[in-house]
Amino acid sequence: MIEKSQKLFDLLPRLSLAPLNTPIQELKFLYNKSSSSPGVFIKRDDYIGPLVWGNKLRKLEYTFAEARRQGVDTLITTGGMQSNHARTTAQVARQEGFDVILVLNGETPEQARGNYLINKKLGVTIHAVPTRTDRIPKMEELANALIAEGKKPLIVPLGASDEFGTLGFIKAAQEIKVQEEELGLSFDYILHASSSGGTQAGLILGKKLFGLNAKIIGMSADSTPEELSASVHLAADPIINKLQLPFTINDDDIQVETDYMGTAYGVPTKASLIAEKLFAEKAGILLDQTYSAKAVSGLLAYIEKGFFKPTDKVLFWHTGGTIALFQ
Ligand SMILES: Cc1ncc(COP(=O)(O)O)c(C=O)c1O
Repeated sequence: MIEKSQKLFDLLPRLSLAPLNTPIQELKFLYNKSSSSPGVFIKRDDYIGPLVWGNKLRKLEYTFAEARRQGVDTLITTGGMQSNHARTTAQVARQEGFDVILVLNGETPEQARGNYLINKKLGVTIHAVPTRTDRIPKMEELANALIAEGKKPLIVPLGASDEFGTLGFIKAAQEIKVQEEELGLSFDYILHASSSGGTQAGLILGKKLFGLNAKIIGMSADSTPEELSASVHLAADPIINKLQLPFTINDDDIQVETDYMGTAYGVPTKASLIAEKLFAEKAGILLDQTYSAKAVSGLLAYIEKGFFKPTDKVLFWHTGGTIALFQ
């Protein structure tokens, strides 16, 4: 039964864009901090591509394969003004010969920096909208205008967290299964920054499809558990049908931690600043303040309060986003 779903998964169209597999490293420097520390490892998706690519490329391997399958000529996507997803979509569109339009909410920066600077260098058309709720109507308006001109646009939702992009993190779980065998261990927990739900949905489905043991915990960057749960279901449910998976996702599968996200999206906390400094100075690992540093601050607090057993093996998934250090 499950083998049939695994075969269906392997047959799905995918463009090979990301240099995979990314390395897993042990964070031995953390063991000095606590004698009862579990084994802690890091998945280096920040190694995907020089400087600016990042983990979004995993999702876009499937998104762009679908765009090609549908004969699309223009991708329209969205995010905040400094969105990693939007910029990576623009970059892949340029590489693969698609037109691209970005609908970004927030103030247009006076000085182009970070992802916004790269979008400018890519010569991408950007439509700035005031708030998050303006994003979908604007994308639909732009898509309708293109259709009227005889073009074939595809709207890629926030974070590519739909039935296509999410497949990238099912494949990532398959990658972990292989790496666990190579390392001769089995992870008990996987912690990662979570926001639009596709990373979490993919890891949960992939865990079940490929038989990982790890509990997946999404360290929220901005969403409530209810919002993230809804996003995970929205992304995962069509895949459950498509792959004829012999399981569903229930509420226990979707573990969301909101205690470390601070007051607002992208605004550092005291603990996330400490996490950034610690990882940079002790391990040369750069963490951004929107996603990874907050997630790591939660990881450190979990270790400190004895959430894990000393025998546990914990994998922190570095999802990239390092370009935010230049914004
Ligand atoms: C660097 C980084 N990490 C994590 C996430 C969260 O992933 P998801 O949106 O799939 O929940 C994002 C999403 O924007 C991101 O850019």
